[in-house]
Amino acid sequence: MNEKANRETDTKRKRPKIAPSLLSADFTRLYDEISSVATADYLHFDVMDGVFVPNISIGLPVFDAVRRVTDIPLDVHLMITEPSRYAARFAERGADIVSFHVEADDPENIARAIAGIHSAGKRAGLALKPATAAAAVLPYITLLDMIVVMTVEPGFGGQKFMSGQLTKLAALRELIDEKNPRCELEVDGGVDPETAKLCTRHGASVLVAGSDVFGARDRAARIEEIRGVV
Ligand code: DX5
Ligand code: ZN
Repeated sequence: MNEKANRETDTKRKRPKIAPSLLSADFTRLYDEISSVATADYLHFDVMDGVFVPNISIGLPVFDAVRRVTDIPLDVHLMITEPSRYAARFAERGADIVSFHVEADDPENIARAIAGIHSAGKRAGLALKPATAAAAVLPYITLLDMIVVMTVEPGFGGQKFMSGQLTKLAALRELIDEKNPRCELEVDGGVDPETAKLCTRHGASVLVAGSDVFGARDRAARIEEIRGVV
């Protein structure tokens, strides 16, 4: 078996990391909600500005509070225009991974935002809306620590998984294996134990799950189920 095929087998065999999305948590009980998903790999933190997406969620003050009460790696997903204005700030304030949208800024600012996140010693990611082709990440791929494939239109939790995105996911897995194998490949939107299997089979290494995890009574068990352990 050649080296590439070996790597692919490894990715397919590996269990995915799970990143519950705080957007689906009960905001009146945030501390307990965060504690209830402590067995996850990352906590996904969705920032929406009401311009890039038709919804406003949470921003820096809530981020600071969350950072104070948990050690879990924070995976920030910026759904905002001109992300280069804020990306480094989240990194400097303790985000472990900061992803923003490739559609949201021009190439110069995108490169600047990635560099700003790296200067803070943190990981940088680029997210793609469903209509955006895999090739959009090509100019940046060797700089990236994560690529996020949206499997719903960004803006709201609880939407249906768009299985049409699986072909793009597989194409990105090939690009990553070829050009930057340490880059993580995250799927965001409509993930549950069933769609999770499709995602990992098509090369995802990190799965965001909001409504499915926070809708479960036993969150730890649900996280294990999505991981494919049970
Ligand atoms: C959607 C957000 C997602 C969302 C996922 O715009 O980026 O992270 O919270 O929620 P579910 O898992 O419910 O689709
Ligand atoms: Zn998200």
